[in-house]
Amino acid sequence: MRAIVVYRSSLGATRKYARWLQEALEADLVKADSGRRSALDYDLIIICSPTYMGRISLLGYLRKRWAVLKDKWVILVAVGLAPPASRDSRKTYEQIPEDIRSRVRYFKLPGSIGPAGRGRVRQENLRPVLEYIRSIRG
Ligand SMILES: Cc1cc2nc3c(=O)[nH]c(=O)nc-3n(C[C@H](O)[C@H](O)[C@H](O)COP(=O)(O)O)c2cc1C
Repeated sequence: MRAIVVYRSSLGATRKYARWLQEALEADLVKADSGRRSALDYDLIIICSPTYMGRISLLGYLRKRWAVLKDKWVILVAVGLAPPASRDSRKTYEQIPEDIRSRVRYFKLPGSIGPAGRGRVRQENLRPVLEYIRSIRG
């Protein structure tokens, strides 16, 4: 199963998760919109996106490419400060169109702002993501 990690990151938290995933999976890694790789070449696409102002930054990326992505395994890792079960996170999640939501495996992981929050961004937060990937890789 060929895997690629696609990410965008401003403050660095999402980049960390993307790199850890790349290492753990021996996957390719690319910045979104760099145009360097095509999803067509992969079976599993892991989109790692920050959350800003109630929006998943790479939702536009996902929507734009959905015609290609819909036939693949797609994981969306949203990174942010709002806890996964919070109202804010739920509202953000619900912006993903229903048809995409039902076919994408979604995870929300802790992000950080500034040095004080860096300890929240831990490799072990990726455990459920990696467990899911192991389950589909068989
Ligand atoms: C202006 C601003 C708005 C933010 N809005 C949200 C939000 O709506 N939901 C959330 O969960 N986190 C929010 N965050 C937290 C970021 O998602 C967090 O800092 C994350 O680490 C950003 O990803 P990055 O470090 O890869 O850029 C916000 C942060 C900033 C600075």
